[in-house]
Amino acid sequence: MPIVWSALAVMMFAAGAQSASAQNARASQKTSKALPTAAAARGAPSRTSQGAYSSAQARRGEKAYRINCGSCHAPTAYTGASFLQLWVGRSAYDMVSLLRQTMPNDEPGRLTKQQYVDIVAYLFKLNGYPAGARSLPTEDADLRRVVIDRRVTAAP
Ligand code: HEC
Repeated sequence: MPIVWSALAVMMFAAGAQSASAQNARASQKTSKALPTAAAARGAPSRTSQGAYSSAQARRGEKAYRINCGSCHAPTAYTGASFLQLWVGRSAYDMVSLLRQTMPNDEPGRLTKQQYVDIVAYLFKLNGYPAGARSLPTEDADLRRVVIDRRVTAAP
């Protein structure tokens, strides 16, 4: 984006447009360079946008989902705006608990806790959250610390 902006600014400048436009464009280029980059988190990630599950875990979760959930739900059933509306601001613990208490619909609680946690990791992946170095934990206290936030998207 900044490259497009400054290229546009140069063209406008060459065409004799007001130089103020070019200055604005250069200023906006500076601002976008100052955007924070994803910091390498040392401690346990506390937000899903920072990578709260591992990719190996999401792969396990995908298999578990296909076997235990796929007969009733398409993989894309829990993605998009409705998912975000429902879950942003809540914790990974809330999601794991809901699934353990209600799903599979015909036999709630049938899976191991590890499997439910892996499925939640898979759902995070489906929703565009990045994988990180650590797995989503299985202890309730740790799960409560993982907040589902808005995933990082391109700045407007
Ligand atoms: C036998 C069919 C069946 C299976 C198997 C099943 N579900 Fe469901 N699921 C449903 C139905 C029906 C609903 C909607 C009604 C409800 O909320 O109880 C639902 C609702 C849901 C919801 C939405 C709950 C909410 O309150 O918004 C989620 C998330 C979900 N299922 C995930 C799963 C996962 C993960 C699995 C596998 C562990 C699974 N389901 C297995 C039938 C099933």
